[in-house]
Amino acid sequence: MPFSSSPPNRDYFAAALPASFFNPILPKQSLHVVHSSNSLNWLSEIPKEITDSSSLAWNKGKIHYTNAHKEVVKAYSAQYAKDWQSFLRARAHDVAVGGLMALLVPSVPEIHLSSETLSCSDFVIFGDCMMDMAKEGIIKEEQVDSFNLGFYFSCPRELKEIMERNVEFSIESMAKLDGLTSNGVPIEKRALILRGGLEGFFKRHFGSDEVVDEIFYRYSKKVLTSPLHLQPDTHKMTVVFILLKRKPLIN
Ligand SMILES: C[S@@+](CC[C@H](N)C(=O)[O-])C[C@H]1O[C@@H](n2cnc3c(N)ncnc32)[C@H](O)[C@@H]1O
Repeated sequence: MPFSSSPPNRDYFAAALPASFFNPILPKQSLHVVHSSNSLNWLSEIPKEITDSSSLAWNKGKIHYTNAHKEVVKAYSAQYAKDWQSFLRARAHDVAVGGLMALLVPSVPEIHLSSETLSCSDFVIFGDCMMDMAKEGIIKEEQVDSFNLGFYFSCPRELKEIMERNVEFSIESMAKLDGLTSNGVPIEKRALILRGGLEGFFKRHFGSDEVVDEIFYRYSKKVLTSPLHLQPDTHKMTVVFILLKRKPLIN
């Protein structure tokens, strides 16, 4: 039951919609409160240039922009800004004038520090495991080159600029919150949590359960020797809280 944990003795309408939040999804001006948690770091698509071998942004041998050269970071960042524009335009359709949006956005303190961030360091380790597997002939190097994860972690400054560019919502509040560290989470549990989120992406691209099992097996070994495991306090998630209010309509 999708709504079995919702409070039973209150009046509200519940709906589950098989649609992307980058499009309008509800009748015009029908929402008064919106909440999004830990989802607006998912890109709508992978920037094309990062898999184009003739582009400066070709992300060869990596599966994320962390530790990649700046053209790759730029391509991800541009896609992220474009996606925010779509999200805000779509919500401007759905939300009534005066309606509020409370958003929790996974972030990093500064973009150049992404390798010191929990999820981003994991992506580097996964990429290294895949490259090891390519060197051993288990998968092809081109398969690694053509695979990229569509997650972008902005820094608060970048998010503020994006919010300030929008004309349909006013910024009521913005705050940087401390997120999780990997401290105290056993490796097996950590690998399982990550598997829940990433397995589908790996399976769709590499196509074989054995390859996916091998990637996670290698991850759980490699992470033990990484700073992520050895200095867990230095690897944190940051979350930016943003409260937006729908402005009056402009005719
Ligand atoms: C990390 S989970 C967060 C789930 C939950 N909100 C929470 O805070 O625990 C991110 C969720 O966003 C969903 N998601 C990503 N892109 C989306 C999109 N364009 N439209 C709708 N849902 C999306 C994913 O399918 C995933 O379930």
